[in-house]
Amino acid sequence: MTLSGAALSLWSAPLDLPTSLLGELGECISPEETERAEQYRQPLDRDRFVAARGWLRRLLAGQLRCRPDEVRFVTGDGGKPMLVDSDLRFNASRSAGVALYATSWTTNVGVDIEQVREIADIEGFAERFFSPAEQAGLAALPQADRRAASFQCWANKEAYVKGLGTGLTVSLRAFDTWSGDMAHSTLDGWTIHKVDAGFGFAAAVAGTGLQGSVPVPPESLGSLKFDPTTGTIERLSGEALGGSLEE
Ligand SMILES: CC(C)(COP(=O)(O)OP(=O)(O)OC[C@H]1O[C@@H](n2cnc3c(N)ncnc32)[C@H](O)[C@@H]1OP(=O)(O)O)[C@@H](O)C(=O)NCCC(=O)NCCS
Repeated sequence: MTLSGAALSLWSAPLDLPTSLLGELGECISPEETERAEQYRQPLDRDRFVAARGWLRRLLAGQLRCRPDEVRFVTGDGGKPMLVDSDLRFNASRSAGVALYATSWTTNVGVDIEQVREIADIEGFAERFFSPAEQAGLAALPQADRRAASFQCWANKEAYVKGLGTGLTVSLRAFDTWSGDMAHSTLDGWTIHKVDAGFGFAAAVAGTGLQGSVPVPPESLGSLKFDPTTGTIERLSGEALGGSLEE
């Protein structure tokens, strides 16, 4: 079954790949992307960038019905990449060896994924980046839950500003995404959902006009079959593709 236009679809992809697959993905990225990849000093970072851009091109090509190397990007004022001559919206994020993507034909989207890491001073981190309500919510949690909650709060906030397209140029302290369990919150017409991105990661997706509050796990691009001549992506079982949130 080919991809169809769900309200908002979520995708994940592994970035630490066997050489043959990395080579295939590397073949579809643009000269500018190759140049950017070569600026990474560490081979691991370079390969992850190539993989992330390659997967993104495959994903978008499957929805645009073109070849991955034909996908063309333009950068918005705040630095947000968008597609040339298409209504398909997307956003991308990566952390360590995992990438997260959201696509939609109808809503603006933003995503963020973060590997949950050590934070030496969680209170100081919260004071710097979180609103007063978020700081209070965090402080009310048991100590053992605060680190994961900090990363979830960060992911929620970054998904929102990436949806807006401003990125981290705006003050993260100036707005509030706290909602108790942080699974679902709303802000100025945006809905922010926690995304189950697997153990050790916090992730979120933000979209406009989304009503549903059921978080869905992303579909793994690594488990799909890709036809390079048509750009079509299929699942071998023929089931519907893409974890989607209804409008
Ligand atoms: C953009 C930004 C939010 C990325 O955060 P991050 O946690 O380092 O990285 P993530 O993996 O989550 O996201 C990176 C992806 O976000 C997307 N992105 C870049 N700028 C974006 C923006 N303004 N809004 C939404 N998405 C953006 C790109 O697809 C990027 O992928 P790439 O590295 O393959 O190009 C952050 O770097 C930022 O806001 N920087 C300040 C703004 C800036 O420097 N702009 C430069 C151009 S004006």
